[in-house]
Amino acid sequence: MSLSSILLLHGPNLNLLGTREPEVYGHATLADHVATVVAAAATHGIAVEHIQTNTEGEMVNAIHAAKAKADGIIVNAGAFTHYSWAVHDALKSYPGNVIEVHLSNPGAREQFRHVSVLSPVVNGTISGFGGLGYALAVEALVELAAQ
Ligand code: DQA
Repeated sequence: MSLSSILLLHGPNLNLLGTREPEVYGHATLADHVATVVAAAATHGIAVEHIQTNTEGEMVNAIHAAKAKADGIIVNAGAFTHYSWAVHDALKSYPGNVIEVHLSNPGAREQFRHVSVLSPVVNGTISGFGGLGYALAVEALVELAAQ
């Protein structure tokens, strides 16, 4: 499978990174994480489109639109991770590979974060490595495409 374009998708409150709970999420901004993905993807000649939304329907629409224009998705769905069956169903309909990323390690946090309703419909999840997780996600998509 060829990999020439990636959709990087962020959910609610992630626009606040840098000032939101820095003790949990660090001081890097969303723009810093986007730059990490763009740089990692560029080393493989891959283009990146980034969408951040605080709205569930917009995230669903972005996943639908990705079918026509992105070969893979990296998604940090924020709190939608834990309850959005609409995002689950949208990802299930997406034919390419999907990597779920979390800056923190949700399994080590509050009980409600222990379940991801997205995990059953993604290739794999990278959690707890802060911004490094985004670079690892690009490499995961590259490896999956080469298999
Ligand atoms: C998060 C973890 C989620 O539980 C939380 O709702 C977020 C961020 C993370 O990147 O660690 O908004 O996805």
